[in-house]
Amino acid sequence: MRQKIVAGNWKMNLEYNEGLYIFSEVINMVNDEVFGIQTAIVCCPYTYLHSLAQLAKGHSKISVGAQNCHQAEAGAFTGEISAKMIRSVGAEYVILGHSERRQYFNESNELLSKKTDIVLGNSLKPVFCIGETLEEREGNRHFEVIKTQLNEGLFHLENSHFTQVIIAYEPVWAIGTGKTASAAQAQEIHAFIRQEIASKYGREIADATSILYGGSCNPKNAAELFSQADIDGGLIGGASLKSRDFVDIIKAF
Ligand code: 13P
Repeated sequence: MRQKIVAGNWKMNLEYNEGLYIFSEVINMVNDEVFGIQTAIVCCPYTYLHSLAQLAKGHSKISVGAQNCHQAEAGAFTGEISAKMIRSVGAEYVILGHSERRQYFNESNELLSKKTDIVLGNSLKPVFCIGETLEEREGNRHFEVIKTQLNEGLFHLENSHFTQVIIAYEPVWAIGTGKTASAAQAQEIHAFIRQEIASKYGREIADATSILYGGSCNPKNAAELFSQADIDGGLIGGASLKSRDFVDIIKAF
C-alpha cells in the first residue's frame, strides 16, 4: 500500500547523546498523536542504530534506518558495514544512492543495483535516492537522468522486491542549499517517476509506491509539497536535526 512517510537523514551530524536526546523528543511528540503519516523514519549514523532501534520499540509509527551499507553479504572488507549487521541491530530501512554518496564515494547505478539486492535480501527496505544536478537540469536532461537511475539501479528487481522500495527524488541543486524545488517542479518529476514505474511494473504497483521529495524541505514548505498528488512525503536533511522542525514537517500532512 502507498504510504505517507517522512524520513530524516542526519548525515554525519550529532554526537551520540545529542542524537538520543533528539530522537527521544521526536518519539514523545509523535507518540499517540494521530498524524496523517504511516511512518516516520530516522536514518542515523551506524553507531547509533542499536540505541535508536531500542528506543523505537513499541512505537508503531517510528522506525530507524541506516544511510548506506556494503554490497557484499559478509567478508574481508575492513571498516565496512553489511545489511545483515544493520538488520541485526533492529533497523528496518537503508538509504541508498544518496547524491552525496554518488558524488563523494563514486557510487554508480551498477553498484547501487547490487546494494539494493543485498538490502532487500536481508529484509530491509531501501530508500533509493535519485535526482539530477543543476547542470543536468539546466541542460534539460533531468528526465533522462532520472530514467537512467531508475533503469540501472532499480528496474532489475522482480515485482515482490520492487514493492518494498521507497523512492526519494532529491534534486542535487536543492540539497542543503535552502533552494527547494517548487511544488510544481517536484510534482512534475514525481509523476514522471510514477509513470516510469507503471511502464515497467504496471499501474497497480506504481500507485502503491511511495515517492518522497528531498531537498531543503522545511516546516514552511512541507505542506505545499506534500499536498501534490504524487508526493508521498519527504526525506529531510538539515531540518531533521531539530526535533521540533522534524515533527512539524511530519505534521504537515
Ligand atoms: P536538506 O534537507 O538539508 O536539503 O537535505 C536533504 C537531503 O539530502 C536528505 O537526504
